Amino acid sequence: MTWAGVIDRYRGRLPLEENVEPVTLHEGNTPLLDAPCLARALGVEGRLLLKCEGLNPTGSFKDRGMTVAITVAAGAGAEAVICASTGNTSASAAAYAARAGLRAFVVIPEGKIALGKLGQAVIHGATVVAIDGSFDRALEIVIGLAKLDNVIAVNSINPFRLHGQKTAAFEICDALGHAPDYHFLPVGNAGNITAYWMGYREYHDSGVTTTRPRMMGFQAAGAAPLVRGSVVHDPETVATAIRIGNPAGWKGAENARDESGGVIEAVTDDEILEAYRLIASLEGVFAEPASAASVAGLKKLSSLGRLARNATIVCTLTGHGLKDPATATENSPPPVKAPADLNKVREILAI
Ligand code: F0G
Repeated sequence: MTWAGVIDRYRGRLPLEENVEPVTLHEGNTPLLDAPCLARALGVEGRLLLKCEGLNPTGSFKDRGMTVAITVAAGAGAEAVICASTGNTSASAAAYAARAGLRAFVVIPEGKIALGKLGQAVIHGATVVAIDGSFDRALEIVIGLAKLDNVIAVNSINPFRLHGQKTAAFEICDALGHAPDYHFLPVGNAGNITAYWMGYREYHDSGVTTTRPRMMGFQAAGAAPLVRGSVVHDPETVATAIRIGNPAGWKGAENARDESGGVIEAVTDDEILEAYRLIASLEGVFAEPASAASVAGLKKLSSLGRLARNATIVCTLTGHGLKDPATATENSPPPVKAPADLNKVREILAI
């Protein structure tokens, strides 16, 4: 069976008009990889799986929501969409807008976007405005513009985005044959944790699964408003994708945490970078720094003995590491320089 995207696969569970034509890049159906080496290194006594969302068409989970949001916008005759972004939403919006023949406008915090993501937005033809302010300010501006002008906001305040993103929870349950016991993921604007919980709840309510996971959300310590319980005015973290101080999905994230018996906690940049290297070196999966917050959180809770034994644990790796190669090279040893000589290279390699 060929895969034709999340609308094709899960249409009956999405709020779409019958005749609307999907705008798709065949997103979804991403690998759910067993990660035994990583589990051992983290001291996890159970089954650990990585949901590799970097394998989506634009390299992040945003494509699941964007296919639905852009399908609805195009179906309603919109001509333009707009978003604020820390990078991935803008890359995805630009690509799906291009696919649908819509204009895309993007507002980003200047200098705080990984280069790969900016490259994606511009090559897909989006008009990009870089403001001298944070993501949170960019989102306020976008919401204001969407009210004033005839453009549709495709941030996760757009409910169709969350419906698309919930399909990742469906895929996990479909692949496992049951719901996991724990689901770990990074939290930024808090749309994804809200969407996953919606998906898990839906499958449970309709009897597809008999249990629901605890939702385990992790913010970067320098951008952890949900953990502090108040807005962070100057968020800062190496994980620029989740450099957010006033998440739009605040309530949804708290509901997911409280209804599922989960947590929302913080991990430091050092813990994020350590997890980032471990995922890549032990499992061969290159995820971007923000994605590693899920694994950093797992390490923390596992080392504190706060997880049930023999659990099935899923960590979502939200975006591809290639989007931000600078963080990889800056946090690894540089290549050893050598003359173009076999013996010299042999000496250095000591093989
Ligand atoms: N991981 C990555 C790679 C992200 O790009 C984001 C959010 C998150 C995690 C957090 O997800 O916001 O649903 O809690 N990126 C948004 C963007 C904000 O503009 O690309 P969330």
